Amino acid sequence: MIDENIDFCLTQDGSAGLFNKEVNDIYHSTYGAKAEALEKFVRPLNLRKNFAQKKFLKVLDICYGIGYNTKTFLEEVIKLNINSKIEIDILEYDKRLVLISPFIKDNIKTDIISYILFKNLSDIYDSDMFSLIDLPENRKFLRADLRRFNKKILSPGYNFKGLNSIRAFLHNIYYHYVSNRNKKHLKCLKNNVFKISTYFEDARKSILDLSGGYDIVFLDAFTPAKLPTLWSLEFFTRLYELMNEKSMLVTYSNSAAVRHAMIEAGFFVGKIFDKHGRACGTVASRSDELIQNKLDDYDRGLMRTNAGVYFRDKNLDSSAEEILREWEERKRSLNLPSSSSFIKKYKKQREDRCLIL
Ligand SMILES: C[S@@+](CC[C@H](N)C(=O)[O-])C[C@H]1O[C@@H](n2cnc3c(N)ncnc32)[C@H](O)[C@@H]1O
Repeated sequence: MIDENIDFCLTQDGSAGLFNKEVNDIYHSTYGAKAEALEKFVRPLNLRKNFAQKKFLKVLDICYGIGYNTKTFLEEVIKLNINSKIEIDILEYDKRLVLISPFIKDNIKTDIISYILFKNLSDIYDSDMFSLIDLPENRKFLRADLRRFNKKILSPGYNFKGLNSIRAFLHNIYYHYVSNRNKKHLKCLKNNVFKISTYFEDARKSILDLSGGYDIVFLDAFTPAKLPTLWSLEFFTRLYELMNEKSMLVTYSNSAAVRHAMIEAGFFVGKIFDKHGRACGTVASRSDELIQNKLDDYDRGLMRTNAGVYFRDKNLDSSAEEILREWEERKRSLNLPSSSSFIKKYKKQREDRCLIL
């Protein structure tokens, strides 16, 4: 439990996930938080082909949560022996989630990633955070080895001296759990320079201040219909400005409205498929070359129905209710065909075509 609204759950691949009662939305797919990050966010990047040659990689993780996308990305970088310098900007308004992220039972195979996170986040830990990690109900979702050190910090005999103790704690983690068990990964730590910066505020505000130059963007916001704030035309327009020519934005959303907004913002847009061949997300790029699975007639047709009407957020500061209200009004005035009538017509045309052939 993080608070009365946010609770841990175990997902099917054994990695810990979260559920938010207030938004009534899951943070991670029930089939696996780690598996989802790999399938929908990291594999579609095709890191070896598209990014491994770059000396410097700049990543923007929007809605970091407990960090599956960043961690799975780093795991892949290490696995592929990519030698780029890596800078990651984390946008997440719940600081507690970011701080608890290195402790999560996440199915990530190497300890080095928790260490990279600790090292970059060490200055912002406080004792409240360590108490949260020690809550009995959280134990089964957190790594036992790291919790043991945490426990030491909280034990009565331990002289807690604020930041210095936290630094000592991190030092211990490094020597006991990283250097001894993962000697070969230390090489990778030397080759790569990992720099992680955090922005604990509404991502819409952060993107206005960021300087850009991103190669990779993860967009993992709550479902558009529940929280439309990070899916508007204006949000994508700003992301377009912040991204390099040969860059990729990946998201789990298949929404026609989201894809339409991306196209309006100037992106080339394509689909992501899971291992069963089902569409499971969207990729957007300033470069057509990086789009492997282009949108087809069906996807484009859907965008011209009421399902393709995107959200507007003129100054990137409207409330979710304001965005939804304006969207409903615009949909009414546009009076486009319904998505269901389009789907029916499309299927019929396809059947007729099959009969002719
Ligand atoms: C679906 S979860 C993302 C899960 C995450 N990628 C992970 O691996 O754990 C959405 C996250 O977005 C954050 N969030 C929602 N709206 C936000 C906003 N406007 N600005 C910044 N963070 C936001 C929530 O706190 C939540 O952690």
